[in-house]
Amino acid sequence: MIYPRGLRAWHTYQNIIVAGLLLAAFAPAVSAQELSKLPYVPTPQVVVDEMLKLAGVTADDFVIDLGSGDGRIVITAAKQFKAKGLGVDIDGKLVALSNRNAKAEKVEDRVEFAERDMFKTEISKASVLTLYVLPDFMQKLRSKVLAELKPGTRVVAHDYPIDEWHPDRFVTLTVPEKMEANGTDKAYLYLWIVPAGVGGTWRVDFDAEERSEELVVTFSQRYQMIDAVAERMRRPLPIQNPTLTGAMVKFSITLGTRQYQFSGRVDGDKIEGTATSPSGKGPLKWRGTRVAKGS
Ligand SMILES: C[S@@+](CC[C@H](N)C(=O)[O-])C[C@H]1O[C@@H](n2cnc3c(N)ncnc32)[C@H](O)[C@@H]1O
Repeated sequence: MIYPRGLRAWHTYQNIIVAGLLLAAFAPAVSAQELSKLPYVPTPQVVVDEMLKLAGVTADDFVIDLGSGDGRIVITAAKQFKAKGLGVDIDGKLVALSNRNAKAEKVEDRVEFAERDMFKTEISKASVLTLYVLPDFMQKLRSKVLAELKPGTRVVAHDYPIDEWHPDRFVTLTVPEKMEANGTDKAYLYLWIVPAGVGGTWRVDFDAEERSEELVVTFSQRYQMIDAVAERMRRPLPIQNPTLTGAMVKFSITLGTRQYQFSGRVDGDKIEGTATSPSGKGPLKWRGTRVAKGS
C-alpha cells in the first residue's frame, strides 16, 4: 500500500470529523437507527458556490447531483457557469420543486431532474459529480463512482469523506447558517479526481535521442496514489516522482546523463505521451502498452 506520509494522521482526523458530524449533522431529522434513510438537509448556498468552485465547473461540464433535494447545486452550476446537469432524488415532491426552481431561474433547458434511486442512476455522463449524503451512502457509492466515472471526473462532497480514498483537496469553511440544521458551523468539502487504472506492468517504447529504447515500467496503485519500478535490458532503472492525476501519468527516468520527464495519457491498456529533458531535444514520443494487469 502506498500512502503519503501523514495519512495515518489524516485518517484519525477524518474519523473524528465523521464521528462528530454523524452525531450532529442530521440530528434534527434522523435517529441513529434511521441512518441509512437519507433526510433532506439542503447545502447552504454559500457552500454550493464553494463546491462548484472547488470542482472548477465550466460551461463544458455536465454536473450530476445524487440526492439533489431542491435542485440548488445543479441549478447554480447552470446559472453561474452555464453548465448542463442532472439531479436525481428519491422524493418526487423535491423533484417537482427542483423543476419549478429551474424554470424560475430560467435554466430549464440545461438541467433535468428525475425521481430516481441514486444507486440505480447511470452516472458515466458526469464530468462533475456532487454529493451531500451520509457516510454509509458515501461508502456504498465508492465502487459505483470508481467503476462508472471516466478518469478525470471531479467528485465533490459536502461534509463526508470516502473511507480509504484520500481526497485530492480538502477545504474547511465556517458557515454560521449551518448551526441550526447541522449543530455545527463547519462545512467540510472534499474533491477527488477519478484516477485511471495504471496498475500493472507496461512495455514502454521510447523514441530517445540516440536510439529507440524499450523499457519496462511496473506501477502499483491505490486510488490516485502510485509507485513505480522500472527496468532496461532486465536491469533496474531508477524511476522517480510517479504521479497520476485523472488519466495523466507522470514520472522521471534517467538514461545515461539525461533525466527525462515523462508524461502520458492513459487510455485503457495504452498510454501515449511525450518526454522532455532539460539538456536534450524534445518533446520525444513514447508509448506504453500494458502487458500484465496489477493492483
Ligand atoms: C442531505 S440532502 C442533499 C440535497 C442536495 N444535494 C443539497 O446538497 O442541497 C439528501 C437528499 O438525498 C435524497 N435521497 C435519499 N435517498 C436517496 C436515494 N436512494 N436516491 C436518491 N435520492 C435520495 C433525499 O430525498 C434528500 O433530498
